[in-house]
Amino acid sequence: MGTIQIKTAIPGPKSKALAERRDHAVPRGLSQSTPVYVAKAEDAWLEDVDGNRYVDFAGGIGCINIGHRREAVVAAIREQLDRYLHTCVQVTPYEGYVRLAERMNEVTPGRFRKKTLFVNSGAEAIENAVKIARVHTGRPGIIAFEDAFHGRTMMTLALTSKTHPYKAGFAPFPSDVYRIPYAYCYRCSYSLRYPSCDVFCASHLEDTFKRVVAAEEVAAVIAEPVLGEGGFVVPPKEFFRILIDICHNHGVLFIADEVQSGFGRTGKLFASEHYGIEPDIVVTAKSLGGGLPLAAVTGRAEIMDAPGPGGLGGTFAGNPLSCAAALAVLDIFEHENLLERANALGNRFQKRAREWQERWPMIGDVRGLGAMQAIELVQSPEKREPAADEANQIVQYCYEHGLIVLSAGSYSNVIRVLVPLVATDAQMDEGLDVLEAALKAACEKKAVVAQTV
Ligand SMILES: Cc1ncc(COP(=O)(O)O)c(C=O)c1O
Repeated sequence: MGTIQIKTAIPGPKSKALAERRDHAVPRGLSQSTPVYVAKAEDAWLEDVDGNRYVDFAGGIGCINIGHRREAVVAAIREQLDRYLHTCVQVTPYEGYVRLAERMNEVTPGRFRKKTLFVNSGAEAIENAVKIARVHTGRPGIIAFEDAFHGRTMMTLALTSKTHPYKAGFAPFPSDVYRIPYAYCYRCSYSLRYPSCDVFCASHLEDTFKRVVAAEEVAAVIAEPVLGEGGFVVPPKEFFRILIDICHNHGVLFIADEVQSGFGRTGKLFASEHYGIEPDIVVTAKSLGGGLPLAAVTGRAEIMDAPGPGGLGGTFAGNPLSCAAALAVLDIFEHENLLERANALGNRFQKRAREWQERWPMIGDVRGLGAMQAIELVQSPEKREPAADEANQIVQYCYEHGLIVLSAGSYSNVIRVLVPLVATDAQMDEGLDVLEAALKAACEKKAVVAQTV
């Protein structure tokens, strides 16, 4: 018997009742991509309150790379539960925080002395990376990219690119943020083609320093090594090296946002490793805590030490349970070959997705690194108009048939895979079978609509 078991109409009666309560109690601004309420989760599957079982290709938006409720993580949390829950690291510190900082300094890219600060969320970590970069350089400017997503707090919204639903209506945002095109080759903002473009989007940073903001006014360039919410876009290999060389020639720092791409997702512990780069600051979160909230800012020691005592921190930042869980997560990566597994899962996806691309012109692009894989849906392969409604239909078809999967992209037309890296081949195939059926249904519906107009 497979993992997927659908016993009721989706959503089932208990999920429906909870959705009604939610409508009364929770603001609508907190969206939900699936209407099913979870009862329990293990490894790469979850079960809803009506007893339906799903393969999970979302992993709580990339937080469960090591699998739901991994025994070692749960045991580490239990052990910590019996000792203390919260003391505030700024009041009475504890070893778990220090040990985890030591481990993060060891495992993140960069052969230089590092220090690590822990906070609660990805957005909070990005905020702190910006604060640290500004104090260290004494400069205000931050350069971010088109299609970037860095969070929902005010500074991270300033850095985030997508207007609806994230930014529209929430202005004013903090100032001194400048935006340049990412290496999104499928939709190049300069209408160029790789490799004949010579990675113009990276070298163009020199021009930005002349025409947009002076380099000596810029503290840092911040980028995701693979776009997350922006649609799993993988830049050409040389993109970041060119960019970082220009940054360093001008005393500008490079911050890598590895919140979604980190912890094995791309087949290396950090996606930066694929490009052979050593960012000055690396920001991590999501799968770091193995399911508990935790985020980190790791960087060159002299940069991290720029703010004075009291300039960094927070009441709950780096709480003992999350640190214990994260230490267990790092042990798992040390002892299990999850990176190889990420590549195997990614290859399994790519093989199927390339076949789909040959069959259905709606699949404009298949791309990814390791297990960070996606397909971009278009109305036609020639004009590449985004097929957002179809992506929405596919997500819905999937959860109705036992697969939890998410869309992404500035045009909401990308289907992305964030499957826990412990998924078996059989679970991966079950999930891909549902996705294939969903694509088929969406393509057939599109063909019928085209015939009737
Ligand atoms: C690349 C990236 N940066 C930052 C964030 C924000 O993290 P959080 O939701 O934990 O604040 C996210 C969240 O999806 C992300 O994908």
